[in-house]
Amino acid sequence: MRPESGTERSGRSPASSPVAEYVCCGALVDGECLFETAAMCYHRRAADHQAQLNLLLGGFGGQAKVSLKGKVVIVTGAGRGIGRAVALRFAAEGAKLVVVARTAKQIDRVAADVRAQGGTGIAIPADIACESDVEAMIARTDAELGPVDVLINNAGVMILRPVAQTSLEEWQEVIGTNLTGVFLCSRAVLPLMMRRRTGRIINIGSLAGRRGYPDQGVYCASKHGLYGLSKVLAIEGQPYGIRVNVVSPGGALTELSKELLATRKPSEAKEWMTPEEVAEGVYYIATQEGPATTDELVLRRFASEPWR
Ligand SMILES: NC(=O)c1ccc[n+]([C@@H]2O[C@H](COP(=O)([O-])OP(=O)(O)OC[C@H]3O[C@@H](n4cnc5c(N)ncnc54)[C@H](OP(=O)(O)O)[C@@H]3O)[C@@H](O)[C@H]2O)c1
Repeated sequence: MRPESGTERSGRSPASSPVAEYVCCGALVDGECLFETAAMCYHRRAADHQAQLNLLLGGFGGQAKVSLKGKVVIVTGAGRGIGRAVALRFAAEGAKLVVVARTAKQIDRVAADVRAQGGTGIAIPADIACESDVEAMIARTDAELGPVDVLINNAGVMILRPVAQTSLEEWQEVIGTNLTGVFLCSRAVLPLMMRRRTGRIINIGSLAGRRGYPDQGVYCASKHGLYGLSKVLAIEGQPYGIRVNVVSPGGALTELSKELLATRKPSEAKEWMTPEEVAEGVYYIATQEGPATTDELVLRRFASEPWR
């Protein structure tokens, strides 16, 4: 899944070059840079190089990629699980991370891990189902790091309960985080993204957003709703250059899925995805650039039934 291009290596160009700095495109084949060997990688300033690289990749029929270096990225639900893995993956590419969740201790640890990697990371405790928390979180992000380039709506909760036994409070809690939270965070970043005519919103869906599963009534409803919201966001964002995508994983080994996994055969655990594998898919979507786009990236467990 990890794309071969888009990983930058910096260094000095040969002494004969008039340009002191170069950025290697990172399109590696057998450990060698394709463009370096073709003498296309040296002798270019970083910005020119990226534009040139995008053209070249497009010309070769490859996927153009955008660098995350210096981009301000908010990951909600980044205290653990998939959100944590996404934050660390993006930090490794030089993004400036804002890690958000309700449990301060967990996000503080993730932000510290980001900084320990040499990156920029701040932890902002917030309940994404609460309008004032979301507004304050976006305002603090803007003040401390600048305008948001990428919003990853990842925070989510799940309860396993037949519909007949689901209380109104449980229903509202799941819808509040999984759907209202996505609405509030997206609405908060959209005006500035529209003014800047750029931005990305990546919503973490689920296979439970495509079909029904027993005991997952409110979870399925929230994820089906997320699809509807994502489709409209994509249409409304398009004229402003804003890309909106959904990444839909199947079972991944996290706190959220623990109870569900416990209902399966113990041997099944080794067939479930890791948060890092899902993060790789999110990274792929976040760096996709050029004429091609992926509305939805479905990541199902290889052991599950294909095309379901
Ligand atoms: N694991 C899977 O099998 C699986 C499969 C498909 C899709 N997904 C989706 O992937 C996303 C991440 O799930 P995960 O499996 O990584 O779960 P997880 O390990 O339980 O992590 C969920 C994160 O969301 C945060 N969160 C929950 N409610 C929040 C709220 N109201 N405001 C702010 N933060 C909140 C949690 O922290 P606090 O509780 O401290 O706030 C935590 O950091 C979810 O959208 C989930 O639906 C997961």
